[in-house]
Amino acid sequence: MAGASGAGVAGTGGPGVADTGGSGVSGTGGSGVADTGGSGVSGTGGSGVADTGGAGVGDTGGSGVVDTGGSGVSGTGGSGVVDTGGSGVSGTGESGVADTGGPGVGDTHGPGVGDTGGPGVAGTGDSGVVGTGGSGAAGTGGPSVGDTHGPSVGDTGGSGVGGVGKGFDLGGLLAARGGERYDLHARYLNHQLPRMLHTIGFDKVYERAEGAYFWDADGNDYLDMLAGFGVMGLGRHHPVVRKALHDVLDASLADLTRFDCQPLPGLLAERLLTHSPHLDRVFFGNSGTEAVETALKFARYATGRPRVLYCAHAFHGLTTGSLSVNGETGFRDGFAPLLPDTAVPLGDLDALRRELARGDVAALIVEPVQGKGVHEAPPGYLRAAQELLHRHKALLIADEVQTGLGRTGAFYAYQHEEGVEPDLVCVAKALSGGYVPVGATLGKDWIFKKVYSSMDRVLVHSASFGSNAQAMAAGLAVLAVMRDEKVVENARVTGELLKSRLAALVDRYELLREVRGRGLMVGIEFGRPRSLKLRSRWAMLQAARKGLFAQMVVVPLLQKHRILTQVSGDHLEVIKLIPPLTVGEREVDRFVEAFTAVMEDAHGGGGLMWDFGRTLVKQAVAGK
Ligand SMILES: Cc1ncc(COP(=O)(O)O)c(C=O)c1O
Repeated sequence: MAGASGAGVAGTGGPGVADTGGSGVSGTGGSGVADTGGSGVSGTGGSGVADTGGAGVGDTGGSGVVDTGGSGVSGTGGSGVVDTGGSGVSGTGESGVADTGGPGVGDTHGPGVGDTGGPGVAGTGDSGVVGTGGSGAAGTGGPSVGDTHGPSVGDTGGSGVGGVGKGFDLGGLLAARGGERYDLHARYLNHQLPRMLHTIGFDKVYERAEGAYFWDADGNDYLDMLAGFGVMGLGRHHPVVRKALHDVLDASLADLTRFDCQPLPGLLAERLLTHSPHLDRVFFGNSGTEAVETALKFARYATGRPRVLYCAHAFHGLTTGSLSVNGETGFRDGFAPLLPDTAVPLGDLDALRRELARGDVAALIVEPVQGKGVHEAPPGYLRAAQELLHRHKALLIADEVQTGLGRTGAFYAYQHEEGVEPDLVCVAKALSGGYVPVGATLGKDWIFKKVYSSMDRVLVHSASFGSNAQAMAAGLAVLAVMRDEKVVENARVTGELLKSRLAALVDRYELLREVRGRGLMVGIEFGRPRSLKLRSRWAMLQAARKGLFAQMVVVPLLQKHRILTQVSGDHLEVIKLIPPLTVGEREVDRFVEAFTAVMEDAHGGGGLMWDFGRTLVKQAVAGK
């Protein structure tokens, strides 16, 4: 995105006739996201996000985010001797010896006859034969603001990330250094992620994605049955959501002034609340865990009580408050002391009654279908729990971060049960179509009124990025797509199809214990086989670590069948399927076929699969 170098006889942004720079992330000449060449008399590369050409006397490419033209003697896009095209986001400016136009969007200085630099979106520099300015965000001709690498004959400077100049060039950066992705994670981020991915052979290099598929560099397609842990509810890059994001950026809204009221948060709240008419207000944050934190704080403040109940095996996020209501010791260990909270088994009303009798409970937080293991609250539980809670002046919090927005075949999973009206509902993940972090806590008016009881308390609970325009626009677009494309209905119908097709395999494969779930949230549980041969193999895995068999299934699903799934929690023999809610029969067929083949392998004693099991055992035994 960063202007790098332009080119032309007289050199525009970057290199010209005598330029030595080429283009590319680490080039010293020009650079652009998709630039391939360099620039110079016979350069073919250009600079700019989508440039394909180059700049120079004989160049045909151009420069600019969307330029397709080039620059050169006869170039019309970018810069060159007689270019008339331009460079910049919308490529209106130009640069080159005979250029008369100016730079791209937002640029103030343009090149003219003899100009050299062609600035881009934010470019402020100008360009002249000895121009020292350049181009900014989308600059194509020359270097960034402040660059001293001016384009002119003889220039060597350009700009681009990693280059000697300035500016930012996303595509060039990715092209030049994308190959280092696993090493970079190992060195600078959570080093166990690449380690784990290498171990199970998940260390793929995915290049692009659309809908329920992504593709590797060789053009192989992969079916996504994970949806980025559920955030890609509409699949990747839904055109309507994508357009909404382009539109909101182009609108240059006065967003996040923090002391005004923007329309988009109000509009999204209004739309969101139509799906839970018993609720009145919304707080927007930036993630699922933040939505949960908000609910915990609001419940405690509104009731004046400290304790929150949660269900065994629950998952509500990993910040400290949410961790306090996490039902797995593996997540909690070492982080104590947490908030005063207590677990009750999902579905156990007596346990709930006992805890409520102590009089200090603010709320029960519950996932209507637990993400871990895909366990559903038993029929009638939520309604009965709600009555008990209200009788004790405590609140019901529904965590719909994963189950909400159609995942289970209803807009919210609590709606499968008549009469359930939670006091607070947490939403996140799919709300922004997977593009922008977002979270929302919906609640009853009296709770919000209590928390924000006076003007003094206006910021008592807030988030700097909360309600930002990108998240809000994406959210509105997602809700529109859900309505227009009947996404909830599709999740219900396709989910039923997937579940019934898989359930039909239970009798055929002794390692398969149960298929359960709602809508497009499906759990496949494995269990101890009956036959002697398989039993000893199963026992070998169990002795090393619970959950290894499920891992043994997930791996060939990806390696052999190019389908991404996950084991549904540590030490669980359960695979969870949460594909985009837009999948249909084609994806169901592909998954069921692949899963059947994997089951055949496992039951036929397929050497390779169990060999891999032995490798997993060795790793588990060797430990950490
Ligand atoms: C039910 C539930 N609540 C909360 C969260 C936390 O969301 P986030 O990862 O956005 O913080 C998750 C994440 O998986 C979840 O499944």
